[in-house]
Parts: sequence; C-alpha cells; structure tokens
Amino acid sequence: MDLLEKITALTKRRGFIYPGSEIYGGYQGFWDYGPLGVELKNNLKKEWWKSMVYLREDVVGLDAAIIMNPIVWEKSGHLKAFTDPLVECKKCHHRFKVDSVGDKCSECGGEFTEPKTFNLMTEVLLGTTEPKEKSYLRGEITQGVFVNFENVVSSSRVKIPFGIAQIGKAFRNEITPGNLTFRSREFEQMELEYFVPPKQDESKKTFEYWKKERMEWYKSLGINAKKLRFRDHEPEERAHYAKYATDLEYEAPFGWSELEGIHHRGDYDLDNHQLTYQDPETNEKYTPWVIETSGGVDRAALFFLIDAYHEDGERIVLKLNPKISPYKVAVFPLLANKPELVEKARAIYKILNTEYYCAWDDRGNIGKRYFAQDEIGTPWCVTVDFETLEDKKVTVRDRDTAKQERVAVDKLSNYFQNKLE
Ligand code: GAP
Repeated sequence: MDLLEKITALTKRRGFIYPGSEIYGGYQGFWDYGPLGVELKNNLKKEWWKSMVYLREDVVGLDAAIIMNPIVWEKSGHLKAFTDPLVECKKCHHRFKVDSVGDKCSECGGEFTEPKTFNLMTEVLLGTTEPKEKSYLRGEITQGVFVNFENVVSSSRVKIPFGIAQIGKAFRNEITPGNLTFRSREFEQMELEYFVPPKQDESKKTFEYWKKERMEWYKSLGINAKKLRFRDHEPEERAHYAKYATDLEYEAPFGWSELEGIHHRGDYDLDNHQLTYQDPETNEKYTPWVIETSGGVDRAALFFLIDAYHEDGERIVLKLNPKISPYKVAVFPLLANKPELVEKARAIYKILNTEYYCAWDDRGNIGKRYFAQDEIGTPWCVTVDFETLEDKKVTVRDRDTAKQERVAVDKLSNYFQNKLE
C-alpha cells in the first residue's frame, strides 16, 4: 500500500475523512469530514485566523456570501477566463486536463480531440419562476472581499496598507478531481487580500513579506520544512488576475503539489469593479494594488496528515502538532470495572475537557488505548490507577517519546497549558 492509500484508509477508519454521499456510491470530488476531521480543520482555521487577524492590527475579517450577483463574475473575468484546457477521448469520451495526459487516453488508449477550454464555475439556478435566475457558486472566495472593499473601509478604521482575511467554501467544476481531497469540487480556502499603494517596490516588498510569513506559519505548526518550497509561476500558467505568482508547494506522495498560492493581483480586481481608495490624510485617490495569500484548508489538512504519519513497527503514530491535533489529551481509568478509578478519571476528564477537547476511553487494555490514541494524533494520555487514589498523581504518557511521568492531579491543567503554549 502506498502512503496515500494508507492515509486514505486511516482517515476513513478513524473518522477524519469519508467519501461524500458514500451510501449512494460516493460523488466524485466531494468529501465529508468526520468527528476528528472537523476538529483538525477547525484547529487549522483557528490557528490561521489567530495569526492573520487577532495577532495583527492591520488585518480585519470578513465572511461574504457564497452566491453573489452574477455581475460580480462577469466583472472579475471568471466567466471568460477561469478555464482549464481539456481534451476528450474520441473513444470513451473521458475528459482530461491537457497538462495531465500523454498522447493516448489512459482509460482505453483512444485518441484525443483538440484541446477545448472548459469553464470551472459551477452554475446554480435560483428563484421560483421560469426561467430561473442563473448565478454561480463562488470559484474563489476572493471576490466577496473586493465587492465589500468600500464597506470595510467606511465601517472600520483600516487605512492602507491593510488586509481583509476570510475563510470559506469555494467550488470548481474540476475535470480531474483526485488524490483524496487534494483536488475536490467543493473545498475551503483561507485567504488574505492585502491592499497596498500602487507602487512597484512597495508591492514587491509586501509580496516577499507575505511569502515569508506564510512559509513560517506552516513551519510553526510543525510541517517538515524540507518538504516545502516555493515555485514561481511561468507567465502562461498564471491566473488571469495575476501580475506574478508563486506557489508554496509540499512534497506529497504524488509529487510536489500546490498548498497555497501567493499572488500579486495588481489593480486587476478593484479596477474591474471600479473601486478606489481615498487617502484620509492626503486626500489622494487611487486604485490600490493587492497582494493575496490563498491557502486551501483541505490541502493543509491533507498535507499535515501526510507529514504527521509515522510507522513504528505495528504502531501508527500521527505526530500532529498538539495545536492542531483533534484531541489534546485522552483520559483513561486503568480498569473500567473499578468505580473508584472511573469516578476519579471522569472528574479529571470533565475539568480538562472545559479547557480543550479531550478523549475518554475505558475499553480494552491500556496498551491498546495508547495505540488507538497514537493513530489519531492525541499528544498525551492520562491514566488514573490505584496509586492515584493514594498519591493524587496520574501517569501522563507522551505520544512521540512514549515516555511516562507522574504528575499531580492539581497541576495537570498547568502542565498541559505550558506544553500547548
Ligand atoms: N483567490 C486565489 C485562488 O483561488 P488558487 O491558486 O486557484 O487561487 C488557492 O487557489 C488555493 O485553494 C490553492 O493553493 C489550494 O490550496 C486551494 N484549492 C484550489 N483548488 C482546489 C481544489 N480543486 N481542491 C482543493 N483545494 C483547492
């Protein structure tokens, strides 16, 4: 089994990621997140929001609607230019992205048609009267920021340079979804649009600044730095809105792959929406330029899972950074049939669970419980045993080192808080 197959099996077995609509045979390019997957994703989003909004004075947040007036997509260029070139097999009629095929169809060996462009926007029909009104599920979450640019400037205290951060779902009619969640048709993005004066040098500096910041963010959450790199876009692969762009890539089992895009969008979007900015001090009016960092939440979740996966003999360990692991602590009574142990362990579990999400397990032997928690990335396990009733201490076992130490029950909260800082 290759690494991606192992990750796919693990994420399904332990409740991280399920195929969408599975009981009806699935639905290509759609995935559901289970009890642990939703925690991992929420933790990633929380860490991102903290670093991009809460710890900065120059960035504010936004949550725009998924469906917008279709004029937005006309003005943004997406209806014309948000396309992928594809070829169709003349025999089996499968469609493929031009850059992902050889000379012959991989399904049946048939010949391909000439490449045709294919729009990635997902149409939706709204209203109750015929003909229904056509709009689109957003192909990028970004346009919601631009159309609210004036609202944010007039309703908050932001002054250029400043940024607007947003997390939300985007939808693309991808021709070849695959590699688990890597290329999906519904996915989540976490984006920053950072507005700067229209000056070459300053915007270049801001671009470089955000490249560095984003790389540091992934590293700070423990991803292997050797598996990260930047790759500048060639002019022909740049999106229609980008002056220049670089991808932050991760070395996945299926090759170096885009994790996040950093784009210099210039005045492309604000100009198309005819939006300008007036400097409150000089009264100078101009169209700001935009530096964008656009990451995929699902890709981040997938790459953090792949990066965290370790095998140690029979033992599978997800060495996730505790900040993003679904559970921080698992609490066990040594024996499930000893009420005095269960009662003490329950009391500890209840207290710790008010501080961060904790797991409870009283099934099987302790070794099996450790294995089960290792496999889902829980950094620490707390066991209440007969000694606990005497010395008021518990055994804390560390996921990565498998070392155990005795910690006083009334020091547990501080003990974990210090480790989580
Ligand atoms: N607003 C700019 C923008 O959308 P992008 O490079 O097309 O730029 C940004 O997308 C990020 O969104 C990617 O780096 C990736 O992490 C994520 N993403 C894009 N398409 C995706 C897909 N089909 N499935 C999962 N994630 C995707």
